[in-house]
Amino acid sequence: MKFTAYAAVSALALITGNAALAGPEAEVLHYWTSGGEAKSVAVLQQEFAANGGTWTDMPVAGGGGDAAMTALRARVLSGNAPTAVQLKGPAIQEWYEEGVLADISNVANTEGWDKVLPASIANHMKCEGTWCAAPVNVHRVDWIWANAEILAANGIEMPTTWDEFNAASEKLAAAGITPLAHGGQAWQDATVFEAVVLGIGGPEFFQKALVDLDPDTLTSDTMKAAFDQMRTLRGYVDSNFSGRDWNLATAMVMNGEAAFQIMGDWAKGEFLAAGKEPGKDFLCASTPGEGFLYNVDSFAMFEVDGDDKRAGQDLLAKLVVGPGFQETFNLNKGSIPARTDVGLDKFDSCAHLSAQDMNASSEGGSLLPSYAHGMALRGAQAGAITDVVTAHFNSDMSSADAVQMLSDAVANSY
Ligand code: GAL
Repeated sequence: MKFTAYAAVSALALITGNAALAGPEAEVLHYWTSGGEAKSVAVLQQEFAANGGTWTDMPVAGGGGDAAMTALRARVLSGNAPTAVQLKGPAIQEWYEEGVLADISNVANTEGWDKVLPASIANHMKCEGTWCAAPVNVHRVDWIWANAEILAANGIEMPTTWDEFNAASEKLAAAGITPLAHGGQAWQDATVFEAVVLGIGGPEFFQKALVDLDPDTLTSDTMKAAFDQMRTLRGYVDSNFSGRDWNLATAMVMNGEAAFQIMGDWAKGEFLAAGKEPGKDFLCASTPGEGFLYNVDSFAMFEVDGDDKRAGQDLLAKLVVGPGFQETFNLNKGSIPARTDVGLDKFDSCAHLSAQDMNASSEGGSLLPSYAHGMALRGAQAGAITDVVTAHFNSDMSSADAVQMLSDAVANSY
């Protein structure tokens, strides 16, 4: 409806030569800069342009989005917010509380988002009953990726317990192969840590520890065991791991320089972009243990002036939740659609496994928000945990000291 009116105004602009009424516009801040990610975001740019929009790209490199969030804060503080931002989880609510988010309820209601999105996802997109973000996907975080050839050559199956993972790694190390491709950046340490916490403690433990931040759980023996496993994993990474980007770690698995990577399924986007096939060139399996850690990418629109920008926000919101886009984008991105009515016929076996496990864990109460990817906690609490995880991984800190530091850091973060 709005677009028809807009088209009429645009037509008038053409006649009167009013260049100010140029059509929907969006300056989009995102951190999708790796090979697979860039391919995915290009789908959106093309669709936006095909619908008359003008896209101004504002990519801020840095996996996990820490640098992008710093850039966003600087832009908002200087009174010049981008029109649309790749933002997710509780950060959406935090920005809403600062009074800077635009309400996209009109689009959501016209498009019937409530009918096509699971309630667990829709809830992240709502701020006091209004829609304040548009979801694009569901990424799973707790995955292991492996080089199929290396495993076969060494007689190793995909591990189903952490003991099996450790035994496989010892065997690989003895054969001169780097067991674990890892990039030593805080968010990557956190990504591995939360998969370990879920696997060793189980879903209820994860909920109490990394969602409810229960002090006794944070200092428990089970949490110590999780740090012990982190210490063991530290022994399986190569000596050049510090600071390495996640996609370069994925490339190590791809190129046979390492056997495994523990990373969310954006890693699959890298394998696919390089023409690799699941089941043949690379293998996927959930990290050992029960449960599913979800990470939903979404876009929030910021309050901006100008009808062209507001039209751009509406167009973008409508497109990203549209069924066609959700299919094409997620085929590239490694994730699965957020919409429940998009078939998975064109998706690979890893995506099918993800969808099955998501449904099963949702029914069984073990579908959990990723803390490492900003779905479970506010920024201050998540940051406090990650600082400890990283400090432990990069030193010889004992697990006993780590859990104490963890509980103190959380307590001081409010
Ligand atoms: C996640 C994000 C993904 C992917 C990844 C690496 O937090 O949800 O879309 O971009 O970081 O940057």
